[in-house]
Amino acid sequence: MSDLMLKKQRIVEENFDTIVDSEFAKDVVYGLSQPQKRLSSKYFYNDAGSQLFDLITEQPEYYLTRAETDIIQKYGSQFFTCLEGTPFNLFELGCGNGDKTFNLIENMLSAGQHFSFYPMDISKVAIDGLVKNLHQSFPLLNVQGQLGDYHQFLAQINTLGKQQQNVVLFLGSNIGNYTPAQAAELLGDLKKGLNSGDLLLIGMDLKKDFDRMTAAYNDKNKVTEKFNLNLLSRMNEELGANFDVNKFNHYEIYNPLDNAMQSFLVAIEKQSISLSTINLDIEFDAFETLFVESSHKYSFRDIEILAHKSGFEVVESYTDDKQDFVDSLWRRL
Ligand code: AVJ
Repeated sequence: MSDLMLKKQRIVEENFDTIVDSEFAKDVVYGLSQPQKRLSSKYFYNDAGSQLFDLITEQPEYYLTRAETDIIQKYGSQFFTCLEGTPFNLFELGCGNGDKTFNLIENMLSAGQHFSFYPMDISKVAIDGLVKNLHQSFPLLNVQGQLGDYHQFLAQINTLGKQQQNVVLFLGSNIGNYTPAQAAELLGDLKKGLNSGDLLLIGMDLKKDFDRMTAAYNDKNKVTEKFNLNLLSRMNEELGANFDVNKFNHYEIYNPLDNAMQSFLVAIEKQSISLSTINLDIEFDAFETLFVESSHKYSFRDIEILAHKSGFEVVESYTDDKQDFVDSLWRRL
């Protein structure tokens, strides 16, 4: 190595820990240096991305949210009747803007259930909005929003609320973003943070016609494409990158080997990108992809297997009329 290169290398190394202090920056450095470039889908959800996701849920092709809303309308007052009126802590992992949650809370309150609510999300806009809405509509409900990555809360979740029965909501097929192995690990952590007999209501997208699933992630209005491209804008804003969003396409397919929708950003031509804040230069060949999301789909059998692997038993599975989606009620063993 030349002196100049050595000097440059040293500067990079010295600054690495201070510059690359955010988890986002670290994951970008690592993920974009891999032979198959990749980045976790959790980085979609800055404020702009959370708003784009809300727009996705309104697209005609995106059946997931509507199906789950139907389930909540129909069974929302019933989910936790097995607790027979005992007061509980209600946690929600990744509540988002919480339109669905709002609905559920309304149903639970009118069914006479007593609980304090702890919604968690990585988007401040989303969590502030939900907390404000709930305060206005249900001034007597105790709501304590938690801003942050819910992973950090899982293994101690029973220390966050009162010493009483715990109920966790993990809705919207958020679990779908994890591979089955990662999902079992995450749920295993949650198991550690819960007491025997605590409940989990988990929303999962059911396996269905491949064309319908593919359409849901390739909406005509191209909101999903914008949602994906927002990752590049986020790197531009936060890491001083110079991505040209017009030089990438969104490509998303169902992969039956992984039982998942898989989402990619595809470079339409060869290009060099520099991320100035983290001293990273990368090359994209023409048609090289950045893998940004997988959304796993489940069968009822898959759900049973996952529950048992992670230390829960399935109590009841609530589905919409079309059997598109399931909110599955699990009991911690
Ligand atoms: C919020 C993870 C459930 O995987 O369906 C929607 C996110 N990505 N369109 C999903 C998403 C593209 C969504 N989840």
